[in-house]
Amino acid sequence: MSKNIHELVFAFAYDYLDMIVADFVKEYRVLTAGMVSGSVLEIGAGAGANLSFYPGNISLTLLDKNPYMVKKLLKKTKLLDVDAEVILDSAEILPFPDNSFDSVVVTLVLCMVDNVNSVLDEIYRVLKPGGKFYFYEHIHSSNQRRSRVENYINPIWRILSTGCNLNRNTNELIMNHKFSESKVEIKDLQLWFPWLSITNIVGFATV
Ligand SMILES: C[S@@+](CC[C@H](N)C(=O)[O-])C[C@H]1O[C@@H](n2cnc3c(N)ncnc32)[C@H](O)[C@@H]1O
Repeated sequence: MSKNIHELVFAFAYDYLDMIVADFVKEYRVLTAGMVSGSVLEIGAGAGANLSFYPGNISLTLLDKNPYMVKKLLKKTKLLDVDAEVILDSAEILPFPDNSFDSVVVTLVLCMVDNVNSVLDEIYRVLKPGGKFYFYEHIHSSNQRRSRVENYINPIWRILSTGCNLNRNTNELIMNHKFSESKVEIKDLQLWFPWLSITNIVGFATV
């Protein structure tokens, strides 16, 4: 399947995936999108799952590299009457000058980007001094059995999801980056069955 078809299928399926887990992850969206202020950039905004969590009186810019997601995003902003600038571009080189935003939001995206450190560098660059980077991501489990399963199914999951990795240690990459302060909570998200849980990180880092 070509990259385009993959992106189309992922964009089509994502609303359904999100709907299935929406109640489980609501708290994480409240702790990220719900906390922003001022001028806000969301990277990898997807189909707009965070839109209804943003507070009022912010200036919102939404960016995603998947053109089919961007189409859905435009529809959803209209539907929810959210005033936002929607941009089709990649996080690796953000099309904004230094010190542009008070808050940057990233949820379930760093698992997918080609180079997490260069995206963190870009986030740091576009945030104003004192600006906050809010994140919610799934990470590689510290449980041996689960981490083995994640390693095992990662190659096929990467293909199905257009590049998502189940076994990234994103928390370490954020903690080791040059942010002046970072606060990360590790949360085990228990889904429908006792054997089905996903390790998540939720938190923020300050420039
Ligand atoms: C799993 S979805 C998450 C969507 C949304 N943030 C959420 O919380 O439901 C990941 C999104 O990140 C986008 N994405 C992945 N890599 C990207 C990159 N390098 N630059 C911009 N967007 C990217 C994908 O196109 C997709 O829409």
